[in-house]
Amino acid sequence: MPKIESRSLAKNFTTEEGSFEAIRNLSFHVDAGEVISVVGKTGCGKSTTLNILLGLERPTEGSLTIDGKEPYADFDYFRGKLCAVFQTDRLLPWRKVLDNAAYGLEILRIPAKERYNRARHWLERVGLEQFENAYPHQLSGGMRQRVGIARAFCVDPDVILCDEAFGHLDEVTAIKLRTDFLNLIRETHKTSVFITHDIDEAMELGGRVLVLGQPAHLLLDVEISRETNGDPSKRRELKERILKAIEDNHPC
Ligand SMILES: Nc1ncnc2c1ncn2[C@@H]1O[C@H](COP(=O)(O)OP(=O)(O)O)[C@@H](O)[C@H]1O
Ligand SMILES: [Mg+2]
Repeated sequence: MPKIESRSLAKNFTTEEGSFEAIRNLSFHVDAGEVISVVGKTGCGKSTTLNILLGLERPTEGSLTIDGKEPYADFDYFRGKLCAVFQTDRLLPWRKVLDNAAYGLEILRIPAKERYNRARHWLERVGLEQFENAYPHQLSGGMRQRVGIARAFCVDPDVILCDEAFGHLDEVTAIKLRTDFLNLIRETHKTSVFITHDIDEAMELGGRVLVLGQPAHLLLDVEISRETNGDPSKRRELKERILKAIEDNHPC
């Protein structure tokens, strides 16, 4: 059974202007331990897909399951199994870095000693061991994202979801953070889904890249190493193919 499976997924929002189609007939699957990225234009339904994965939204039609279960319907099963890192850090400003990193464990009612041990371990892994007593406003944007990453790993989830987590950062900081994040994911063998509107970033992050049209549906599903074999010119060609697939898809 795939770890994540989307079958003919559709999501419509009811707005004042009527019904709005955010996802139409989206099917894909992700195996356990796979690292994939999902790329598509802004507004094509990427975050909506992620919100369904997180159990925050319910599909209109079709299904999106993790371990064969629907996150919306089985919220309790997924406690501690899914973690997300978002574009904005979503830290609690009144809490110190250590307490922010330990937050997910607090929700899971892990005793304080273990909670702080684990939080300190992951703060060290993301290079913030000197900052456990700082408050979020004392940190740079990249450091705040690192706290969010530590908070996610602390919980030891099965699946890590990432929605444009590097989008607010300057390029140098983003590259360093992406590399470090990816290394931790590879080391821990987490199933991961990275959502981005940046094709280069998608190709760098994912072993596989899913390219979405609008409303969200699958345009391409490409395995980077198989397609490019590490050859820079094949990589450029693949990027062109992805770009063209997105450009040629006219929203309807
Ligand atoms: N709760 C909502 N109600 C109405 N429309 C929504 C809602 N959430 C998202 N949308 C619309 O659905 C479309 C897809 O949004 P989103 O999934 O955030 O796109 P992306 O993350 O790819 O930029 C957008 O046009 C957005 O305005
Ligand atoms: Mg989005």
